Amino acid sequence: RQAQGYMEMVQLYNSAIREITTKLEILDSEFRLRYDHNPIHHIDSRLKSIASIVEKLRRKGEPVNIQSARERLTDIAGVRVVCNYIDDIYRIADVLSAQDDIAVLRRTDYIEAPKENGYRSLHLIVEIPIFLMTEKKFMRVEVQFRTIAMDFWASLEHKLKYKKDIKQDVEEISEELRECAEEISRLDMKMQSIHRKISGSVGEAEGTSGVQREKI
Ligand code: GTP
Ligand code: MG
Repeated sequence: RQAQGYMEMVQLYNSAIREITTKLEILDSEFRLRYDHNPIHHIDSRLKSIASIVEKLRRKGEPVNIQSARERLTDIAGVRVVCNYIDDIYRIADVLSAQDDIAVLRRTDYIEAPKENGYRSLHLIVEIPIFLMTEKKFMRVEVQFRTIAMDFWASLEHKLKYKKDIKQDVEEISEELRECAEEISRLDMKMQSIHRKISGSVGEAEGTSGVQREKI
């Protein structure tokens, strides 16, 4: 019974991830067609493992069962949208949020207000309906939007968090990471500004043809 319930839960969250990912891919290709620019560099997704679900419920002092997980945890399904520029983050997040089958339950802008350690990303908790044969289920997905540079930073910072053995240098490393976060933020803004100028002059406007494309 428990195993069946768990399999159903996995199926539902996987479906929710696919729905969100498809929506994002559709927006990316429409963008490409209209503006000759791909806002999304790549999309990652993951389903939280049972071990992590159980650990988090215990940590929060919540009952450990499937219903409790569905009600209390908002990050069982996670989608990470790595964008090229800061503008892309807001454009994609805004149009996704505006879709009428999506409800935004929470929006946390760690770009406008970075975390103490320097972490930057835009987080949305969204709820999306999954249509089954005889019912529809509303599933929550945590969607993180960040630039390539923010993602680069977060991957390294994540390693620091989970490396419990490096004790003595932690303060120094944290400080270096904070500095890197600042530099990355400046870099993102500069790149954004250059991109605006270039695409402004080459014409990211609709209907422009003969645009130079970077060859891969
Ligand atoms: P949890 O941190 O998951 O308990 O939930 P929360 O409600 O505090 O959400 P928050 O938006 O702060 O973080 C959710 C997710 O964002 C995390 O699981 C990470 O994937 C990412 N994240 C948040 N803060 C950091 C950070 O300081 N460093 C890194 N590398 N990732 C972070
Ligand atoms: Mg957190």
